[in-house]
Amino acid sequence: MDKKFARLTLDPDFQISRIDKRVYGSFVEHLGRAVYGGVYQPGHASADEEGFRRDVLDLVRELQVPIVRYPGGNFVSNFYWEDSVGPVAERPRRLELAWRSTETNEVGVNEFARWAKKAGTDLMMAVNLGTRGIEAACNLLEYCNHPSGTKYSDLRAAHGVKEPHDIKTWCLGNEMDGPWQVGHKTAREYGRLADETAKALRQIDPSIELVVCGSSNTGMPTYPQWEATVLEEAYNSVDYISLHTYYGNRLNDTANFLAYSDDMDRFIKTVVSTCDFVKAKKRAKKDIMLSFDEWNVWFHSDAADSDTMGNRPWSVAPHLLEDQYNFEDALLVGLMLITLIKHSDRVRMACLAQLVNVIAPIMTEENGPAWRQTIYYPYLHASKYGRGVALNTALRSSKHDTKEFTDVTDVEAAAVWNDEEDELTIFAVNRDLTGEITLETDLRGFVGYELIEHIALEHGDFKAVNSAAGETVAPHAASGQDELDGGMLKSRLGAASWNVIRLRKSK
Ligand code: AHR
Repeated sequence: MDKKFARLTLDPDFQISRIDKRVYGSFVEHLGRAVYGGVYQPGHASADEEGFRRDVLDLVRELQVPIVRYPGGNFVSNFYWEDSVGPVAERPRRLELAWRSTETNEVGVNEFARWAKKAGTDLMMAVNLGTRGIEAACNLLEYCNHPSGTKYSDLRAAHGVKEPHDIKTWCLGNEMDGPWQVGHKTAREYGRLADETAKALRQIDPSIELVVCGSSNTGMPTYPQWEATVLEEAYNSVDYISLHTYYGNRLNDTANFLAYSDDMDRFIKTVVSTCDFVKAKKRAKKDIMLSFDEWNVWFHSDAADSDTMGNRPWSVAPHLLEDQYNFEDALLVGLMLITLIKHSDRVRMACLAQLVNVIAPIMTEENGPAWRQTIYYPYLHASKYGRGVALNTALRSSKHDTKEFTDVTDVEAAAVWNDEEDELTIFAVNRDLTGEITLETDLRGFVGYELIEHIALEHGDFKAVNSAAGETVAPHAASGQDELDGGMLKSRLGAASWNVIRLRKSK
C-alpha cells in the first residue's frame, strides 16, 4: 500500500478571506430543555437574580460564541412573539406544534436578549413565516429595533426595556422547504413571501441583514432548484441564504461517517454556484453570502424523541434531542469546522445547532452541574483560535475510499492567521483510523514563527462519551509531536485525531 502523507504550504499572501467571527455562532431554540432547564432555571443553585444558570453562562463565555440564532428552528413557524413579552404572569401557555410540547412563554424576546448580553453574544432573530407573515414580522422588528414613539417601540418601553435591542441579523422563517414545517410552502410561494417581507422589514430598519431559507439538507427532493427559485424571487432584497445539515453514523461505519464533511463541502459549493447562477441571470452586482445556520451531528436521540413526541406530548421542557456525543462525533464536528473555515469567503455565518441540552456541546443536570460534551472541544478551539485570515493551505494528502465516498483525503486541514496577534493556527484531522500520519507544513513564508503548542483530541474508543460524572474525552498537550526546522514543520497526527497546532512570531 502507498505511504500515507499530508503536506501544506502556508504563506501570508495565500489568503482565502478574513473570517467573519459569526462563523462560530450557535443556536438556542425553544425546544426540549434548551431554554427551560438549560439557559434558564430559577431555583437552581447556580441561577442568578434573573434565573439564568451561571454555570451555563460561564461555558458559553468560554466558547466565545459570537452570535446565537433564536427562537427557532421549527419552533418559530408557530411562534406568537406577542405572547412572550410583557408581565410574565399574564403570558399565555401555548401548544407548541413543532415539538408537540407546551410553551409557557416564561422566557421571551426580552429575557433572551438579556441573557445574550450576559453571555457576550449577539442575536440572530428568526421571524414566523409559517403561520404568520409580513405584519407580525414587521411588528416584531419595530418592537425590537425602533427607538420610541410608536405602538410597538412604546410597548417595549412599557415592558421595561427602554433601549432598543438593535438586532442586526434576521432570518426570514425556517426550513420552509420541509413538509414537517408548520406552514410549509413551495419555493415560489416562499420566495415571494420572503421578498415582500424583506422589503417591508428594510423600510423599518435599513441597517438589518436578512437571511432567506435555503434547503434543509442535500437530500431534499427540491434541492437545489429550491435555492434557484427562491433567489429568483428574493435576490435583490436579501443578503444571505441559509444551509442546514445534520449527519449521523447510521451505518455504524466510522471511516464513512468521517467523510460526511466532504458532503458538506459539496453542499457549500453547489449553493455558491446556484447563487452565482441567479446573480448572472439577474445581471446583479452583489453576491449572496451563505449562512450555514444549522449544522451538527444529530441522530442518537431519534428513537427516544419519536417516543416522547408521539406518546407523551404537550409536556413542558421535555427531554428532547439530548444526543450524547461520542469521540467520533467530535472528529466530524472538527472536520465540519475545517470545512466552514475553508469556505469563509462565502460562508459568513454558521451556527452549531444547538448550544445547550438540545444536540448541544453544553449539557445540564437538573440538580447538578453543567458539563462539556465531546463536541465542545473542537468548537472551543475553532472559536478561540480560528479568528483572523483563512489561508489557502494547498493541501496534498493521500486518500482512501469509503462506503459512500471516493477520494477522501486522509488528512483534512485549515489554517488561520491571526495577523493582529501574529499567531498562526493549523486545525487538522487525521481521518485514517489505523495509523499516525506526519503532516509536513512549509512555513517558510512565516519567518520567525515558533511553535507554541500542539493540542490533540484522541481516544482509543470511538464510542467514548463524556457525562456529568466526568470527561472521558478531553484534549491533551501533544508535546513532542512537532519538529520545526528551517521553516519546515513536521507534526505527527495520531490515528483518528483532532489537532490544533499553534505558532506565534517570536518577539
Ligand atoms: O435544530 C433542530 C431542528 O432541526 C430545527 O428546529 C430545525 O430547523 C431543523 O430541522
